Amino acid sequence: MKAVILAGGTGTRLMPLTSLMNKHMLPVGKHPMIFYGINSLKKAGIQDILLVTGRHALGMFAQYLGSGSSFGVSITYRVQEEAGGIADALQLARPFIAEGEKFVVLLGDNLFEEELRPYVESYALQPGGAMVLLKQVNDPERYGIPSFHSSGIIERIDEKPKEPKSDLCVTGIYMYDSHVFKLIEQITPSGRGELEITDLNNIYAKAGLLTYRKLTGWWTDAGTFESLQEAASQLSGKYE
Ligand code: G1P
Repeated sequence: MKAVILAGGTGTRLMPLTSLMNKHMLPVGKHPMIFYGINSLKKAGIQDILLVTGRHALGMFAQYLGSGSSFGVSITYRVQEEAGGIADALQLARPFIAEGEKFVVLLGDNLFEEELRPYVESYALQPGGAMVLLKQVNDPERYGIPSFHSSGIIERIDEKPKEPKSDLCVTGIYMYDSHVFKLIEQITPSGRGELEITDLNNIYAKAGLLTYRKLTGWWTDAGTFESLQEAASQLSGKYE
């Protein structure tokens, strides 16, 4: 399977550090943040990776990652000219994914302790649709939060709800079939002017085609100073 890492965005919650460099290049322990996502994908058996980022950050990523060969992967780059949301960035992966091909999308600030391979393998066996990975959190109002049908399947996801219906959040790893690109055409910009990944996932949920698994290990999205520090303390020492 291939993967797309989304590593753009303005990183406003990490200002002023992100006025200097892209969030995904900030240090987490011994490595820049992007290292951990690449490593997780590689350990899951994924070598063919598309990295989407902004114009200003591209040079730094290319300098650090190059072709990907020293990391044991192959990296292709695409530039998102303007920040238009996660689903907008995802559209740039269209030429990278063949008709009928399934793939993984990873938000570059999402760091996982556990092996992703079992989840990727389980999605590969799924006939189609999409899969998300959920994690119990103490601050659900920061994330996409699913509600469930009585049968247990995801009914819908609410993005950053004021009154969360669950403490399980949707983490920033998504597994899609190639229909996803047609579905992006159906969504419109949200109140904050972005094409939201949650609106896209809700199309799958409405059709009863959004499956999930629950993560058991430590996870964070390192998008705030607090979570960046937590990530550094969790991950340093585990990687040479
Ligand atoms: C994004 C998604 C959200 C998800 C989160 C995980 O939020 O919109 O649904 O729970 O990633 O990292 P953002 O970090 O862009 O606010």
